[in-house]
Amino acid sequence: MTQPALSHDASPDLFRATFAAEVRAGLMHTPQKELPSKYLYDEVGSALFEVITVLPEYGVTCAEERLLAKHAADIVAHLPHDVTVAELGSGSGRKTRRILEALCKKRPTSYCPIEISRSALQLCRRELGDIERISIVGYERDYLAGLAEVSKDRAAEERLLVLFLGSTIGNFGRLAATRFLREIRNMLTPGDALLLGTDLIKPTPVLVAAYDDSIGVTASFNLNLLARINRELDGDFPLDAFEHVARFNPDARSIEMHLRAKRAVTAHVGAAQLTVSLKAGETIWTESSHKYRADEMPAIADDAGFVCSHQWIEDGWGFAESLLVAR
Ligand code: AVI
Repeated sequence: MTQPALSHDASPDLFRATFAAEVRAGLMHTPQKELPSKYLYDEVGSALFEVITVLPEYGVTCAEERLLAKHAADIVAHLPHDVTVAELGSGSGRKTRRILEALCKKRPTSYCPIEISRSALQLCRRELGDIERISIVGYERDYLAGLAEVSKDRAAEERLLVLFLGSTIGNFGRLAATRFLREIRNMLTPGDALLLGTDLIKPTPVLVAAYDDSIGVTASFNLNLLARINRELDGDFPLDAFEHVARFNPDARSIEMHLRAKRAVTAHVGAAQLTVSLKAGETIWTESSHKYRADEMPAIADDAGFVCSHQWIEDGWGFAESLLVAR
């Protein structure tokens, strides 16, 4: 989900080689061992993430759904006429439905989900295909390659609305986030728009509970990364020797997920030709989720070549939808 690089479906051998190389580089990284968060989302991880989105402690998804349910008509009223919608990551389609229904009420609308996974695109078509006057064209690509194609394929008079929902931008570092927004901007023409969902900063105990829930779903989601390495890369990590840790980093304003070794561990990853040792208490950093203030979005937008023209805020949990218009 964090800017996926390669389609698992399209080229399994290349995917496995890249996965192995990135695992090797991350576990050899000093002083902090790390693994790229995009590998959290295999079939098991994606299913666990779907469960996370309905956990009472993880308010992010429900807050965005409430926000879009309440404001979809107003958001659509602020968009240029005649938009084609491109979504980066199609997700389950639950949130997007609100926007698409509001658009299709006004006029027939093309919706282009961009996903590296063919099965996710098929699911998305099943979820949203019943909306009246919608036409769905899936792009099995990484985000930027897909967006370049959608932009190229559109008719001259059509504006583009890019959806980047769910606070996925939070899984980029702050500099990388601005760089990514700038790359999106470079695919657009002035007047095109980006609707960007961001989770807002909130008290530390609320954030920690959101990423370390009481029934252990997030812990399983995190631990599945080592299980996946065992399954797909011929690894032998003893899963019972690791525990899930969620900690707030106040300097970065991010929640970090780690896997901490409960005892000294040595493991092998065959496909990466790697033997790795961890001391008791040592961690592998698996994900960061940056939290934003709504009032910092205009400056971030400006840096990336957009104007932040409107914002809608959900106050109960703390979530913002910002409409950025390409300058
Ligand atoms: C996908 N992404 C926005 C989620 C987040 O909140 O950073 C991933 C997640 N990780 C643990 N819980 C949810």
